[in-house]
Amino acid sequence: MDNQVMPREQLGVCAEGNLHSIYLMFNANEGVETDLRPCIANVAQYIYELTDQYADSAFNGFLAVGANYWDSLYPAARPAQLKPFPAMNADNRNAPALEYDLFVHIRCDRFDILHLVANEISQMFEGLVDLVDEERGFRFMDNRDLTGFVDGTENPKGRSRQAVALIGDEDAPFKSGSYIHVQKFAHNLSKWNRLPQKKQEDIIGRTKQDNIEYESADKPLTSHIKRVNLKDNDGKSMEILRQSMPYGSVKEQGLMFISNCRNSNNFEKMLESMVHGDGNGNHDHLLHFTQALTGSSFFAPSLDFMQTKAG
Ligand code: HEM
Repeated sequence: MDNQVMPREQLGVCAEGNLHSIYLMFNANEGVETDLRPCIANVAQYIYELTDQYADSAFNGFLAVGANYWDSLYPAARPAQLKPFPAMNADNRNAPALEYDLFVHIRCDRFDILHLVANEISQMFEGLVDLVDEERGFRFMDNRDLTGFVDGTENPKGRSRQAVALIGDEDAPFKSGSYIHVQKFAHNLSKWNRLPQKKQEDIIGRTKQDNIEYESADKPLTSHIKRVNLKDNDGKSMEILRQSMPYGSVKEQGLMFISNCRNSNNFEKMLESMVHGDGNGNHDHLLHFTQALTGSSFFAPSLDFMQTKAG
């Protein structure tokens, strides 16, 4: 592909993991779009430039526009698969939708830098948007979720992160953009920690300490990795790039689950398989120990898209 005509992706979409993160969810004030478009382009450019300035601390980030807000902000054209969050429910397994207009996702190996940048971004947006939710994520042990299991092992690596997460020629006006799904999961850790380790491992489908994948024949149909490891009609693996991190405090804690993908279908099919199961009563038993509090759908456009629409 010709790099000259490749729109620049927002670098946080495919970046490797960090020690810290801040998630800012904003709703826009009424009728501010004309001022908000250049402001969004500036914030995204600012994040892009800080990636160089704070390269030593691996700073990165992205800004994404909510599915329900997209048409107000950019009425001329919409990414082909941008849809509201696919809320679903079965018995007490609930994946609710809670949409926001804008999502700013920043990560770094220094928390002080993140704090500074989050304040700066909030200033840049002043008068245009309200900050309606904020979470701070952190690396837990050796990349573990708070359940104690290593999270992210089967994520795409190297350049296949771009191939999985970024739109290519299939939707040319939105090339280098990414569909983003976010769910804030609150874990019931006291319930989880009462489970014997073998039962926990059966629920994930991997061993806890050494993070070894179960043999295919040993994976329960109700295990998390069985439920999310899906193939399309051509037998090809359906992949997403997960950028999740643990968040929270003693009072409420869990996983900020973040899926970045070049389509919106893969995430939806995986969530369906977790919540509704395989049609034979096998749903994801991880959902007995964690509850999704939010569910939001966004699109992270390329930097060039935002800059073209700024003026
Ligand atoms: C794998 C945890 C939610 C998709 C995993 C693994 C863990 C984990 C420990 C195994 C290691 C790895 O490959 O990363 C969790 C927790 C969740 C959660 C604690 C929420 C509380 C989700 C959701 C989806 C998802 C909502 C998608 C809708 C995946 C995928 C894999 C995976 C695609 C890789 C499976 C494979 O190819 O082996 N998750 N997950 N996860 N998870 Fe989740």
